[in-house]
Amino acid sequence: MAQKILVTGGTGYIGSHTVVELQQAGYETVIIDNLSNSNVGVLDGIEKITGKRPVFVEGDCTDIDILRRLFSEYPGIDGIINFAASKAVGESVKEPLLYYRNNLCTLLNLLELMPEFGVRGIVFSSSCTVYGEPDRNPIDESAPIKNATSPYGNTKQISEEIITDFINSGAPVKSVILRYFNPIGAHPSALIGELPNGIPNNLVPYLTQTAAGIRKELTVFGDDYDTPDGSCIRDYIDVVDLAKAHVMAMRRMLSSSEDTDRIEIFNLGTGHGLSVLELISAFESATGVRVPYRIGARREGDIEKIWADPAKANNILGWTASVPVTETMRNAWAWQLRTDSKSNS
Ligand code: NAD
Ligand code: UFG
Repeated sequence: MAQKILVTGGTGYIGSHTVVELQQAGYETVIIDNLSNSNVGVLDGIEKITGKRPVFVEGDCTDIDILRRLFSEYPGIDGIINFAASKAVGESVKEPLLYYRNNLCTLLNLLELMPEFGVRGIVFSSSCTVYGEPDRNPIDESAPIKNATSPYGNTKQISEEIITDFINSGAPVKSVILRYFNPIGAHPSALIGELPNGIPNNLVPYLTQTAAGIRKELTVFGDDYDTPDGSCIRDYIDVVDLAKAHVMAMRRMLSSSEDTDRIEIFNLGTGHGLSVLELISAFESATGVRVPYRIGARREGDIEKIWADPAKANNILGWTASVPVTETMRNAWAWQLRTDSKSNS
């Protein structure tokens, strides 16, 4: 019988791509999402790609009664992937309690209910933000955790500690913590992708909106960093590659044949850093579309350079990022064009 996975935040950007990969790998999925940062229409996209509409529960994971009802109504959930969280760094500085409440109560509720409903494992979305500004690159999982620079980042650090403490207390659950580097792009079908709310904060949606003429120009936040071209460096990871890693993590965590640690942490990145200017040029050469940009001031709190050492995920999960950045850029552009035509229709 197919294993059943609860995907919290499953109509969101990374969640929707992961539901597609889970369904294509033969898992049954149940999504819970409160639609605070996504749209129920995403389910149509998932259905078109996979031929199957996932079960969808509209609800808030900070409400433990809603979750309890869900576990009773859909018995036999084997594992959870917890994407549900608020994720805007700037907003978290202005509304810290909202972030602590949403991100931490969601996790606490899920952990509390797992033993009661026999759920064996939870995959948690963490971030390379826990490393702060690395002392050296590429960075592996043993690198020190630095003081968080935002309440959002702090929720990821605290969440990792909560999971670790819970499992070390002897709770009958396992966990895989995935530290994402910079997820970008969209499904190659252009049926699902990222839906930024208002003016995007992140580079790629801002870039594609500028290329589409929705924004006048992209501002490159600083060209005086200690990097070859002066702009910041990140490890941009294709969202479909990222989604596939969740399937592999889930398979490993739930496998009874593999004697895995009760808690495991993996970096998910390509292992290659790209500067902001290099990414703009990758977009231009992949699509033939010019991106008007100007060099602006540094953005407060930005990390200068960070990229992953993904060897642990490569060797232990058997996962490697494989989509070339030019293809990721073409997919991001196809998605941008599709969302434009939808909003104009
Ligand atoms: P997203 O906002 O697109 O998806 C999150 C989903 O969770 C949304 O659909 C939202 O409606 C839902 N949600 C939020 N709070 C909820 C609640 N209390 N109950 C039910 N649903 C709720 O974000 P994403 O980019 O897909 O990120 C997914 C996860 O990955 C988040 O935990 C995020 O912090 C983490 N992450 C994202 C990035 C990134 O750059 N996108 C990087 C590192 C980590
Ligand atoms: N950038 C620009 N102009 C823009 C937007 C971004 O030059 O208009 C630059 C930034 O300065 C940075 C790079 O593009 O150098 C990437 O910026 P993003 O905002 O896309 O991503 P960040 O690395 O700042 O942060 C993202 C998420 C965080 C997450 C982190 C690590 O927003 O939530 O990746 O996963 F913690």
